[in-house]
Amino acid sequence: MAANAITDPVCTPSQSELCSPVGSPPDVSFQPEDEISSCGPGRSYPGTAVRSNLDDEDAEETVGDAERQPLLGRKERSRTLDSDLNSFLGDPEFAAVVQLAEKASDENVFPERIQQGSSGSYFSKDPSGRTIGVFKPKDEEPYGHLNPKWTKWIQKNCCPCCFGRDCLVLNQGYLSEVGASLIDQKLELNIVPKTKVVWLACKTFYYGPIDRCKSQGKKYALEKMPAVGRRFRRIGLPPKMGSFQLFVEGYKDADFWLRRFETEPLPENMRRQFQLEFEKLVVLDYIIRNTDRGNDNWLIKYDLPVSENRDSEWMMVKEPMIKIAAIDNGLAFPFKHPDSWRAYPFYWSWLSQAKVPFSQEIRKLVLPKTTDMGFVQDLCQDLLELFKEDKGFDKILFEKQMSVMRGQILNLTQALQDGKTPCELVNMPSMVVECTERSRSPNFIQKITSQRPFFSSW
Ligand SMILES: Nc1ncnc2c1ncn2[C@@H]1O[C@H](COP(=O)(O)OP(=O)(O)OP(=O)(O)O)[C@@H](O)[C@H]1O
Ligand SMILES: [Mg+2]
Repeated sequence: MAANAITDPVCTPSQSELCSPVGSPPDVSFQPEDEISSCGPGRSYPGTAVRSNLDDEDAEETVGDAERQPLLGRKERSRTLDSDLNSFLGDPEFAAVVQLAEKASDENVFPERIQQGSSGSYFSKDPSGRTIGVFKPKDEEPYGHLNPKWTKWIQKNCCPCCFGRDCLVLNQGYLSEVGASLIDQKLELNIVPKTKVVWLACKTFYYGPIDRCKSQGKKYALEKMPAVGRRFRRIGLPPKMGSFQLFVEGYKDADFWLRRFETEPLPENMRRQFQLEFEKLVVLDYIIRNTDRGNDNWLIKYDLPVSENRDSEWMMVKEPMIKIAAIDNGLAFPFKHPDSWRAYPFYWSWLSQAKVPFSQEIRKLVLPKTTDMGFVQDLCQDLLELFKEDKGFDKILFEKQMSVMRGQILNLTQALQDGKTPCELVNMPSMVVECTERSRSPNFIQKITSQRPFFSSW
């Protein structure tokens, strides 16, 4: 495959595929401290900055940016027709991919279930049958009522204490996928293939018998009694809400390349490129506190330097490049730090790349953002806009999720400033930064949770 060829908006390995630029953060900064402390709004500690230079009402009105578009308000959704459900204002490229997926279904090219997955996940196709996305419907997640995997059903019902992760909000994996993409874009990491909330209906998805019967009955009525059939608001199967991630081509499971690099070490320039990509993965995973980052859940694309036109006098030497794609981010954003008996380690922390201090490049990219409390609060606000659309949204749990995330950001910032290694970062004491509102201004309390209990409810 061509090293830097940008052939279409869907599957190219370029920057544009994985990111979209976001506006610059407001100019409010803080210096984190690693001691237990309680900070008032006037102090420069995490969360002490009042969000940007806008007051709350103004901030409400700026909701028009691209990240806040994918979801329709719940009330609005109930009014819309199925065809209006997917609206991605400000992101025509993504909209075009979703339209292709819809068109493919209309032309009987259906999404294909991913066999190895623990829940219902699907490769979405374009009309020619090429894979263009990965769709994970909410109701087919491990805790979704339509999870098609019977092994998971048995586990959930017969052995509930061993099922799932007790630090995660149930049945919100699709939001975790989209949230990871949002953070990736905001931090300009460009390692998560763009992911948004999408509604799709298709007969290869898992539906209960009632939905299938209803749909058949309506089709029959439309054929036999068109006047009656036309009254139905929807004829086909009901659309499912889930995460839709762009499919990236030419990538292989990290394990494949990591083994290869052991026997065939990368040239120095590639090693540095890979190290930076790896550090981006560390930053993402640490902030979202990913509990499922095995080496099967990130991909590597390595385009070796190859020459074209060997026969002709002119040789085209393609630039080698190495990229990481962080996929399968559905088990992140815990509302408490994992208990010590199920710690969900970051598997990358055992790699040799994790024993190297964070590079200047990553510090330059990340620190200006994470030390800006306005930026961090904006992140929380953006996640709130996304998460609150779920019908199981719980404000208290969400606040806890954000407390963990702020704690992670605080540790990360400290580690970057101190020139620590990713390995040292993961060994730092766990932090939470709680936000309490006093007279409309946020107040932040840092807590170290280093004494991780064997079991805790919070
Ligand atoms: N965006 C993507 N681009 C390219 N390939 C992908 C993408 N997402 C997933 N894949 C491929 O599909 C496989 C399964 O994806 P994923 O791990 O996200 O599914 P899953 O249903 O959550 O599976 P599991 O529960 O086993 O982790 C991956 O190992 C990868 O090979
Ligand atoms: Mg996986």
